[in-house]
Amino acid sequence: MTSLPEPLSAKATDSFAYYTIKDRLPVILSKIADTVYRLKNTVREQHGEEGTKELKDIVGGISKLRNELQTDKSILTLEDDRSDVTTWNKYLEEQTTLHGYPPSWFKSAWLYVECYMYRRVQEAVEKCNVLKSLDVFEEQKQKAFLNSQGAILILLNYSMKVIKDLEKEEELDVEKLFRQFIQVALWGNKCDLSISAGFENSQTSCPLDQVETLKDHILIDDLKPLWTCLRASAPGRVDIVLDNAGFELVTDLCLAEILLSTKLASSIHFHAKAFPWFVSDVTKQDFDWTLQTLGRSNSIAMNFFVQRWKGRLSNKSWNLQVHDYWTLPFDYSEMKMRCSDLHEELSKSSLIVFKGDLNYRKLVGDRNWDTTTPFAESLHGFHPAPLCTLRALKADVQTGLAEGQAKAVKEKDAEWMVNGNWAVISFCDKTVQ
Ligand code: F6P
Ligand code: MG
Repeated sequence: MTSLPEPLSAKATDSFAYYTIKDRLPVILSKIADTVYRLKNTVREQHGEEGTKELKDIVGGISKLRNELQTDKSILTLEDDRSDVTTWNKYLEEQTTLHGYPPSWFKSAWLYVECYMYRRVQEAVEKCNVLKSLDVFEEQKQKAFLNSQGAILILLNYSMKVIKDLEKEEELDVEKLFRQFIQVALWGNKCDLSISAGFENSQTSCPLDQVETLKDHILIDDLKPLWTCLRASAPGRVDIVLDNAGFELVTDLCLAEILLSTKLASSIHFHAKAFPWFVSDVTKQDFDWTLQTLGRSNSIAMNFFVQRWKGRLSNKSWNLQVHDYWTLPFDYSEMKMRCSDLHEELSKSSLIVFKGDLNYRKLVGDRNWDTTTPFAESLHGFHPAPLCTLRALKADVQTGLAEGQAKAVKEKDAEWMVNGNWAVISFCDKTVQ
């Protein structure tokens, strides 16, 4: 068996990992401290002295974390009482034994230390009493959603028209619809708040026009085999492993709706994060807030979908699942061994759709693969069910490209791997060890 490529790490000073740890993560941490500090009056009014003290402790915890990161200190054990603490601390021990020294920010695997940063942010919140359910990214996520209102309205108006036509049994080209909504959901992934270090990154252009204008920016287009797989299992269970809240979540909800309305799927299982993650990832609170906020608008389309989607949640054609595995530092090839219950759950699916960059990194183990390595090989045995990834590139790892393709795209755009302007739709329906 050939050995696996090295995990990406900030050890390589010309890498995006290095730039992220050196420059981007400290900015994200500073932004958290600012946001939390600005809550002080509200917190004092609501929770008095206890709240004020907890708020200070959170800010203190974040500053300490930023200092540890910037001075490349060793990774510390976690000290709160979340159910995942033992798993994190055992992994730290495993890594220390494996390498003979404790992991640290600039020397260890990027995936591990970046995930650890978000878990440490959560530790600061977990240690609280009255502020235990604070989401330090809530304000940014909600602002980005509200700033994308125009694009959301265009998408929902169009989707409502499609649903009404389907109900009237108009002759619609279902494959064309499927292709269109998959691409809307794909490009929805441009809008995450982690790549922009927490700064404004909402959808302002028309999401339907974008499908046309960005067609040539799809480096791998597996829509055909994806369509064949869905058709063959229709109507089956489709799982969507969500990524970001805001505009991207709305695109995912629309995709789910189209799959059900066209009878390509019989049920959808959404997977959300258990706590705030990589700035803009969807938690159950974000999911609920999104439906509530759409329901408060005057738009006919928004109200139409909120009613429909609430119905879907109660009749279980939509299910929202939360599992701690999505916020652990492991890649997905480790899922079967480390968390067989989630692996088993996913194996009930006819198709698993993984949204976004971080899910892609975890699918391929965040390793330094040659870009021409087949996608199936880079999954390293992970195959609970047929799966696909809808990902705008925001990290310097990519597999499944043709010979010479990476060089050609780099000539057009030197930043192609990290600026979110290029994307892949990769599909896999077989296990490769
Ligand atoms: O480096 C960009 C980054 O912060 C990555 O660390 C992470 O993979 C990604 O952004 C998050 O993007 P997405 O929301 O698409 O997973
Ligand atoms: Mg994300």
